[in-house]
Amino acid sequence: MGKRKLISQPTAGLHGELLLPGDKSISHRALLIGSISSGTTVIKHFLHSADCLSTLQAIRDLGITVTEQGNDIVVHGQGLTGLQAPANPLDMGNSGTTTRLIMGLLAGQDFQSVLTGDSSLQKRPMRRVSDPLSTMGADIQTAPAGTLPVKITGQPLHGVHIKLPVASAQVKSALILAALQADRSSTIIEKLPTRDHTEIMLRKFGADVQTAPDHLTITVKPQPELKGQTVDVPGDMSSAAFFLTAATIVPHSDIILRNVNINTTRTGILDALLKMGANIQVTALPSSGEPAADLRVRSADLSPLDLGEKDIPAIIDELPLIALLAACTPGRSTITGAQELRFKETDRIAVIAQELRKLGVSIQELPDGLIIEGQETWRPVDPTLDSHGDHRIGMMMAIAALRSTTALLLRNPEAVAVSYPEFFVDLNSLLTKEKEL
Ligand code: S3P
Repeated sequence: MGKRKLISQPTAGLHGELLLPGDKSISHRALLIGSISSGTTVIKHFLHSADCLSTLQAIRDLGITVTEQGNDIVVHGQGLTGLQAPANPLDMGNSGTTTRLIMGLLAGQDFQSVLTGDSSLQKRPMRRVSDPLSTMGADIQTAPAGTLPVKITGQPLHGVHIKLPVASAQVKSALILAALQADRSSTIIEKLPTRDHTEIMLRKFGADVQTAPDHLTITVKPQPELKGQTVDVPGDMSSAAFFLTAATIVPHSDIILRNVNINTTRTGILDALLKMGANIQVTALPSSGEPAADLRVRSADLSPLDLGEKDIPAIIDELPLIALLAACTPGRSTITGAQELRFKETDRIAVIAQELRKLGVSIQELPDGLIIEGQETWRPVDPTLDSHGDHRIGMMMAIAALRSTTALLLRNPEAVAVSYPEFFVDLNSLLTKEKEL
């Protein structure tokens, strides 16, 4: 049995300020794009979490030298054709982003590679990447269930014109990384706009990647000369989201979150919170690439919310928190069009419902979402919660516990290290003891 951690603590509110860890999506991309650029790429405020360290180890196994300079990571890139055949299978750990982006990167390389991962990653679908890549000429074999292990035999790739059936930034990014190595231009059309960090970063490194005004059509010109850059990684909105939620639902809170990425493909949680009536002040900061802001959050009474398919991509990783916010808000809230949640680190629709029910929340599972009947207070029926090894579920439950009047335990709390190793330390630093007020 995994570890258990006491997570409920009576608090008189959250106070103070936090500098959030670097954005996970941007940290992965800086390593991968740095590795295929010429010269050095310096990554500032890199996220040292388990997922990003899987990408770091993978590029080292592909022959790239990565060093540390103070707090910065330095990638000594070898250009588009400079990666080397790995001696052993590449271990993707728990990281879907590493796996899917690297499939696109390796599809056009002149060698064979095998990707493996942990038991959760081994259940996740990979044909959503290998199928579209095969239309470019890629040779990628998955296990019979369409999962890891995956064998990639590098091939010369052709430019394509392709419409993607799932709204997924990982799939889109894999195709963009493959398209850089193709023989002619590619056009990739998304179902709905998803996070565009790959496009933004590639432009910074010198690639010709254009996004049409529809925000759905991306054109990639092949064989660019990518030049190493300095990447200043802003704070991760997906990590900030736990504290945006906590400060909103715990009375008497007032906190400031510094330097958070506010790329609009990621700010669905801000939009949703503001729609529900949250008290959040956004102060934009000067930036030359990805936009960032300081966020001041104070407690607020909320109204219920309905989210549908179009809202989902910009809030995909924050939907566990929307379920929690809805659970604290009297009235019925709904999430639909979110079937992608079933393919995350866990089946998040099932796991959210299972864990919030332990707290006495009335919540109904739909094939593609959840219906939540919110209440001011809950009556827990089972004090032992479980992250199920899923970082975002573990952190959501720790925030939920701040509203509990009874002691709660969290099984497998160490899962938070996948995206936020210092989560419990940062949370504790904001909690004001009841007697301190
Ligand atoms: C990510 C894309 C999203 C997101 C994941 C990170 C990325 O996944 O859920 O946490 O960095 O591209 P999908 O592409 O599966 O939606």
